[in-house]
Amino acid sequence: MGKLKMTNYANYKKFVSIALTLCIVFSILSVNMVVAAEPGFVAETITLQPGSTARDINFNWYSDQTDNAASTVQIAKKVDMINGNFPEDKAITVYGTVGDASAGKSYHKAGVTGLEPNTQYVYRVSNDATTYSKIYTFKTGGTDDFQFIAVGDPQLTTGNQDSDSIHSADRTTTTRAGWANTLDLISQYFPDVSFMAGTGDQIDTSNSEIQYTYYFEPNCLSSLPVAPVVGNHEGTAGNFGWHFNVPNETPGSAFGNYWYTYNNALFVVLNTSPSPSASTINNYISAFDATLKAATEANPDVSWIFVQHHKSTASPASHQTDSDVLVWTPEIEALMDKYNVDFVLAGHDHIYSRSWFIQDHAKVEDVDYSANSVTNPQGTLYITMSTGSGLKYYDFRTSAPASPAWVTSIEGLYYEAATPFSGTLTGKPWYTNIGIQYKVPQFTVIDVTANSVTFNTYRTDTMESFDTYTVIKSAPAVVTLSGVADIVVGNDADYIVSVSGVDKLATVTLKFEVDGAYFNGKSFTGLNGFEVLGGVEWTSLGNDVWMGRVVLVNLNGGISSTGALDIFEMVFASNSNLLGTAEIRLVDAVLSGYDNADKAVYIDSLIVNNLVQTTIGQYFSVYDVNRDGVVDQLDLTVAQMFFMAKEGDANWATAKRADVNGDGRIDIEDLILILKNIVW
Ligand SMILES: [Fe+2]
Ligand SMILES: [Fe+2]
Repeated sequence: MGKLKMTNYANYKKFVSIALTLCIVFSILSVNMVVAAEPGFVAETITLQPGSTARDINFNWYSDQTDNAASTVQIAKKVDMINGNFPEDKAITVYGTVGDASAGKSYHKAGVTGLEPNTQYVYRVSNDATTYSKIYTFKTGGTDDFQFIAVGDPQLTTGNQDSDSIHSADRTTTTRAGWANTLDLISQYFPDVSFMAGTGDQIDTSNSEIQYTYYFEPNCLSSLPVAPVVGNHEGTAGNFGWHFNVPNETPGSAFGNYWYTYNNALFVVLNTSPSPSASTINNYISAFDATLKAATEANPDVSWIFVQHHKSTASPASHQTDSDVLVWTPEIEALMDKYNVDFVLAGHDHIYSRSWFIQDHAKVEDVDYSANSVTNPQGTLYITMSTGSGLKYYDFRTSAPASPAWVTSIEGLYYEAATPFSGTLTGKPWYTNIGIQYKVPQFTVIDVTANSVTFNTYRTDTMESFDTYTVIKSAPAVVTLSGVADIVVGNDADYIVSVSGVDKLATVTLKFEVDGAYFNGKSFTGLNGFEVLGGVEWTSLGNDVWMGRVVLVNLNGGISSTGALDIFEMVFASNSNLLGTAEIRLVDAVLSGYDNADKAVYIDSLIVNNLVQTTIGQYFSVYDVNRDGVVDQLDLTVAQMFFMAKEGDANWATAKRADVNGDGRIDIEDLILILKNIVW
């Protein structure tokens, strides 16, 4: 349970209430007055959606139908602005599509691709490619770790929050104000989030334009991309499609099935707004399967897969036994198993819950659930989001329904804390790990790295994170052999074993094979805190091939490194009168170290390069790149093959012969040096 900046909270509350008041006043004024005063074109309900990747972004806005000649976006780097003016000469202009929405409005869609990472952009939109809107800003994220927000069921109405919402007694009363407050808090506390993932029911009435106006009203939504989900409250009208410009929508299926990626994570969004029966569900499931198939085939190397959809199949509250949810549940679970989905973010029940890991419609037992982090779990984690605006709070079911079956012992945190809970919990759904109903608007902050995803769910009245959960996938440590590509006969040859991605690595056993006709062992040294224990033990494999086995130890609690760390150096002296190609092969690497409880454990490892071939030749000119005894045009050709290769590249062991000036990269300078040394 963490708390954020609680000491400043009293002042912050005052600030938010002032900011919120201003925000609402402006939005009310804008209907009558500010529109006229604002220069240029006024875009309504402007919003950003993710593009296919973190380098792409989609735009959507509304205008009056009388003014719908075109859809144009101009975007430029913010740094190119001078005196606050839009840098038109440095902007790129993209043209999109336009169509008729309801109530005399047109919708506009456009998208840009290939943006640079970590860059502030300015953009403006137009309906005639001549008169542009005011300038909006947008910042792209980086290329590795990122943070995003998940928010459930804002379900904006023109009315009030739930009467027992903690929020309503505090600062806000309407769902509109509750939503604005939630987004203000997100903007203030988490300014670096890359986007917001919804779980459906953005609005309450599918064709209500005023509710969409309230949804898009917070200013930050012209800068913060939103990935929406079709919920049952917007599934029956076209307004959702007019208001959002989602990428990679699967053709030929129900609207709202789409996918996007952000760095190493894939997000697949499914429309569970319909209420199928057992006889009609196959159409929907085959459409979902097509979306998941397309998304995973297009992105086979992602580290994480998230699914966003609306009707939670793992909620402890009242919707869990709805007939449609009972039909959806086994089918959705089977798809999550089939595509190895890591996380499902859903809503619909306006309660917070986090499941056990689920596979084959059962709790995965082979997981250590004792802490708030788990490592390498099988199965899928299902998170149900409560409301982001304060509309409706569903209570836990207090008695076992006919289906699904309940477990009778209440394990883990499982409580309701907003108002005294009138019922007695006699058990809980088999899939629920934690269920919490605080009756307060909330949102979840999700931090994604290469090997971990951390969920922190905040209640907006105190900004306390009331549930923290981390899922870790430990990638295997990578072991690599590297060494010299050629030596002059009689000289020494040097080889290095390195490891990367290790945590408290303490002991390493290496087995390697050496060509004994060419080489005699000279020195064997542990590096970077490792020592050779005893010495190398040699076994003859016949035909002059020898197997060496060495054990390396670290006597200071183990070594951790994400990047490549050299741990062992082998030096061989070459036979003084034998020319040819010698091979050194790393045949086995066994790693062990300490886990977080300081228990000794083996560490999964993967040898990615196990062979180095070393050519033993006569004295050669450094410009004789192909080592054939003469510097000629073929040496230029070989060097061209490795043009732009640099130290650290996978092919460097071979390529570096062409690095004749030894500066760690092969460029035009190397080619010119070779040229100057050609014997014509
Ligand atoms: Fe809802
Ligand atoms: Fe719903």
